[in-house]
Amino acid sequence: MKRSRRSTIAPFMVMEVLEAANARAAAGADVLHLELGEPGEGTPPSALAAARRALDEAFMGYTEAFGLPDLRRRIARHYRETYGVEVDPRRILVTVGASGAFVLGFLAAFDAGDRVALAEPGYPAYRNILRALDIEVVRLDVGFAEGFQPTVESLERALPLDGLVLASPANPTGSMLTPARLEALRRFCTETGIRIVSDEIYHGITYGTPARTLAADADALVVNSFSKYFCMTGWRLGWMVVPEDLLESVARLAQNLFIAPPTIAQHAALGAFRDRALLDRRVEAYRRNRDRLLAALREGGVTRVAPPEGAFYLYADVGDLTDDSPAFCRALLEETGIAATPGLDFDPAHGHRYVRFSFAAAEEVVAEACRRLVPWLRARADRGADPSAGVS
Ligand SMILES: Cc1ncc(COP(=O)(O)O)c(C=O)c1O
Repeated sequence: MKRSRRSTIAPFMVMEVLEAANARAAAGADVLHLELGEPGEGTPPSALAAARRALDEAFMGYTEAFGLPDLRRRIARHYRETYGVEVDPRRILVTVGASGAFVLGFLAAFDAGDRVALAEPGYPAYRNILRALDIEVVRLDVGFAEGFQPTVESLERALPLDGLVLASPANPTGSMLTPARLEALRRFCTETGIRIVSDEIYHGITYGTPARTLAADADALVVNSFSKYFCMTGWRLGWMVVPEDLLESVARLAQNLFIAPPTIAQHAALGAFRDRALLDRRVEAYRRNRDRLLAALREGGVTRVAPPEGAFYLYADVGDLTDDSPAFCRALLEETGIAATPGLDFDPAHGHRYVRFSFAAAEEVVAEACRRLVPWLRARADRGADPSAGVS
């Protein structure tokens, strides 16, 4: 029987790490989850209260395809208050997570065979969704020299292009574009007709300069989500600011692909905006986790780490210790109980020498991981970089 070529996309290795970690936990051993890009603290209380109230009082039918008008207006207010940018609520589409927004956005903006560039290392679903839609993925190879973000020169080399996916802060590196670099990329894309898809899912989780939105750019698709800053991964809710010229296409696609985003989650999201102070305190806890983990890596001899300016990840070059990051992560889990993600998930070319540590977990979890990590890294360095010396 026929099976599509385009659906043969790469697996998400972090899910395999999670399976191994769960198997270890089921066997009675402890696991410190530093593999998941998921806030350790749960749904904020005002979101839970709003959801409970909605269960009692609201009709849980379909909402409009673009989402609850109140939520779209609340998101528009978020742009005004956070960035000083006016966004017409008409242009705000509530989606099934940022993931749902990518499918709708990519379908509305690009045709099969179009060329869309993205930085690698990067979030693997960008490339996998694009490939499943028969859109050509153009890899921008960025490392320490480029601050792990695209440059105008890398775009010039990759021309012709139809699109560019940006993420600042980025997963897995936590790196950010400076305002000047973001503006240079935006200008280049406007001049050359390249449609930007700006994934702003880690906005709000920054440790220095706040992130800039591209919502004021008339041509950019801006994607965001309630999963990360708002700590609502399981509610599966995100949004997209849609350019005027794509509104009609996106509306038709949204109606047909999803009908509407989940109703209960939209009520919860309205509540979540009341918990900004609590959510900002959680970001301060991530900052303490980041500093602790950075110090532990340094103490263990791992000093080449992508600039961790936002999100909740450290992307560490462990090339002195291994050239097989999946084996390295298996040994780390077996010998210390720390689950981390091999860089190969994010970068097929160089990821064999990188590991991503998430520090979204509770502070005591990260502190315990740091205590175990330092001696393990030092012992590993003493054993040498021979991957066969992995499991003792
Ligand atoms: C960079 C990035 N974008 C998008 C997503 C997907 O988010 P959502 O849960 O909103 O679908 C993730 C999830 O980890 C992510 O890291």
